Amino acid sequence: MAQLIDGKKISAEIKDELKEKVKELKEKGITVTLAVIQVGNDSASTVYVGNKKKACEYIGIESLAYELPEETTEQELLELVESLNAKEEVNGILVQLPLPKHIDEDKVIRTISPDKDVDGFHPESVGRLSIGQPGFVSCTPAGIIQLLKRSGIAIDGKECVIIGRSNIVGKPMGMLLLRENGTVTICHSHTPDLKAVAKRADILVVAIGKAKFVDASYVKEGATVIDVGMDRDENGKLCGDVDFDSVKEIAGAITPVPGGVGPMTIAMLMNNCVASVLEGNE
Ligand code: GUN
Repeated sequence: MAQLIDGKKISAEIKDELKEKVKELKEKGITVTLAVIQVGNDSASTVYVGNKKKACEYIGIESLAYELPEETTEQELLELVESLNAKEEVNGILVQLPLPKHIDEDKVIRTISPDKDVDGFHPESVGRLSIGQPGFVSCTPAGIIQLLKRSGIAIDGKECVIIGRSNIVGKPMGMLLLRENGTVTICHSHTPDLKAVAKRADILVVAIGKAKFVDASYVKEGATVIDVGMDRDENGKLCGDVDFDSVKEIAGAITPVPGGVGPMTIAMLMNNCVASVLEGNE
């Protein structure tokens, strides 16, 4: 049976470390403030935003909540983002996605100041990551690097295969693993013989959004398998992109769903909020 990579435990450790840092900052009279904007009332977004607010409260980060109606215009949202860019006391700005269809998401993301882009979605943040400059990094792939490092899994010199090429997970994951000196392959729907490529991996990251897609036949014996999926199985039960029961028998280490990658995303968002203050104060 594979080593279980416990995202719940590791994310709790990170949040406790951040809580300590925020306390130290407070003693110096410095507060950390995150503005969270939600437009409309998509139920999944409401849950995510609620969890982000709870994490802020736990760590001691001030959160400013902007709950805007569905019919908010693009112009109104852009003006709010611009006003938050201008507020010195706001360190991070998060616009919860998806936005209603009448609002251009790209335009909104591009309007957030790269200095406050705690999601790491701004083209400048993405560009900085790709050329090795400091900047905010997308939270889920940043969390996966922490899971690996804190579980004692080496990346340097390893064969890393990512299944999925999204802007939020697959592509930044590739950049981060490359930064850690991994040899990186990103696979997608046009990859011939996906199974053969996946089987080369020492570290296999799966982010395709298909329930239990990767079974033991995709995995090399002893490989580390990271499951980014949040899917529902045939009985409506939460599961990942990896068929956990079969893969755990062959992998060397594996993340469960839930309790693997999921809790790391918020921990890294909190980390980015604290980093946004530390940059100018250390
Ligand atoms: N919607 C789902 N996940 C995310 C996220 O990480 N950030 C934002 N802004 N919206 C999301």
